[in-house]
Amino acid sequence: MHSRIVGTGGYLPAQVLTNAELALRIDTSDEWVQSRTGIRQRYIAAPQEQTSDLALAASRHALAAAGVAPADVDLIILATTTPDMIFPSTACILQAKLGASGGAAFDVQAVCSGFVYALALADLMVKSGAARNALVVGAEIYSRILDWNDRGTCVLFGDGAGAVVLAPSETPGIMSTHLHADGRYRDILSVPGGVANGEIHGTPFLHMDGGAVFKFAVKVLAEVAQEALTANDLPSSAIDWLIPHQANIRIMDATMKKLALPMERMVSTVAEHANTSAASIPLALDIAVRDGRIQAGDRVMLAGVGGGFTWGSVFLRWQ
Ligand code: ACO
Repeated sequence: MHSRIVGTGGYLPAQVLTNAELALRIDTSDEWVQSRTGIRQRYIAAPQEQTSDLALAASRHALAAAGVAPADVDLIILATTTPDMIFPSTACILQAKLGASGGAAFDVQAVCSGFVYALALADLMVKSGAARNALVVGAEIYSRILDWNDRGTCVLFGDGAGAVVLAPSETPGIMSTHLHADGRYRDILSVPGGVANGEIHGTPFLHMDGGAVFKFAVKVLAEVAQEALTANDLPSSAIDWLIPHQANIRIMDATMKKLALPMERMVSTVAEHANTSAASIPLALDIAVRDGRIQAGDRVMLAGVGGGFTWGSVFLRWQ
């Protein structure tokens, strides 16, 4: 038994925030942000929108594409760093909003690698027969954990959600998954705060050592893609589409170079979406599926990296 993606979906909030608009509030410029990151704009959730609302819209989109009714979903794995609340999980809130009660539902917290982690887990559960219609979601509202006065971080991120439906298949589908973490690097990207005794302890805003993150991301994205190629006994030229975590165009370009892949084989949404953390890979996948770039038979490498530090790949054949 194997698993395969049978539908994709995405959702972006209505409000667009351009670099030029940001430059009116903080000491930055469109030129600085574009040249360092490739980012032109990001989407910002409305005050009343919760992560589960973004997830709901992306999930409905994916379920419609798959032709699967919410009542038939028997597993929801939702990757997020920005849950609606401490508990219940955003996956359970999504389940209720979707009208999909009864199956398993839980969140995965692996920051920007979250979607790849969630998809790898769903693959195992579908392959084992534990689930038949798995909904795998990455959804984030990073705008609420950014210090909007810190120009070194606030220009990098945006809000959004992406989702896929995973179902059993006689042929792969998902060819391999590889997950990694190294907690010794936990301090280079973090929101080092928490709630205790009714108070915030530490800081509730994102902190980052940009240079260290850059070096780490370039190293492990190429390594984890290479690991998947080796496991499948394929050369890098067998990758038709690389969908790396959409953090920064320079990190993404450097990964393509390390893998000796032409830039045309990369799916990039970072200019329009900025870094949407766990949502970035499923959003990019959805766009490339819907615009017809990804065709049946194509091999697609999803490669994630994020805080923790965590990283991982899902290598799949589109069917
Ligand atoms: N606008 C204008 N100037 C800025 C801005 C800004 N938004 N942010 C920083 N600067 C300034 C700095 O203050 C510094 O000024 P100084 O020299 O007077 O001190 C100068 O620009 C250069 O700063 P650097 O940090 O050296 O700039 P660099 O070229 O390294 O780019 C960046 C910074 C874009 C953050 C880079 O380090 C990077 O891309 N790192 C990766 C971070 C990343 O992608 N994080 C996403 C999350 S990680 C993940 O998803 C896995």
